[in-house]
Amino acid sequence: MAFIGFDVYGTLVDPLGMDGPLREHVGDLAERFAATWRERQIDWTFRRALMGRYVDFDIVTREAFRATAAILGVDTRTAEAGLLETYRRLPAFADAHHGLARLAEAGHRMVAFSNGVGATLRALLGHARLLPPLTDVVSVDEVRTYKPNPVVYHHLVARCGASPDRTWLVSSNAWDVLGAKSAGLKAAWVRRSTRTHWDGGGIAEPDLVVASLGELVDRLPA
Ligand code: LAC
Repeated sequence: MAFIGFDVYGTLVDPLGMDGPLREHVGDLAERFAATWRERQIDWTFRRALMGRYVDFDIVTREAFRATAAILGVDTRTAEAGLLETYRRLPAFADAHHGLARLAEAGHRMVAFSNGVGATLRALLGHARLLPPLTDVVSVDEVRTYKPNPVVYHHLVARCGASPDRTWLVSSNAWDVLGAKSAGLKAAWVRRSTRTHWDGGGIAEPDLVVASLGELVDRLPA
């Protein structure tokens, strides 16, 4: 049995799924808007963690939304509140329900582990119907810094109550996998597309690479 922390945005639910709702407001820029929004959001979590200037992920997400509108030169002021609300209802990845259900059946202990704010994560995962197999939601908000600061991975280990080498991070984000490995945890990298390549900076390799969450059932230690 493994203790598993699942990254949320990009691993269980898809932030790029905002391109549909964005289309009605920014037309053909929708895909680029969704990708730039995500990139600005993550970049600011890295910077804020380094500077020790924590504000919660809802605020970072809103600021990244505004930065993206400025970068792309679109006026999204009237759409902002609605789109930020829609960000709490991001779609689950196709393999997420089945994958989590099978892992729970196999007896693994699983939590959500995310940069997101606890209440927002519960709403998001509840809407995506992903909460039932998860025993808890662990947010970086509890330690007020962001991935990949080692502090947040040590917090996951403490919250799971297992040793680091029995605690797994499962994430599609390579920098998140590197954060976990650097802090002494095990990590599986979810590589859903073969067009995605490992970007490890020579720091570490994932313990497992899987193409879907379901594949973890046969690959994780029993
Ligand atoms: C998460 C984002 C950063 O922690 O992927 O859920």
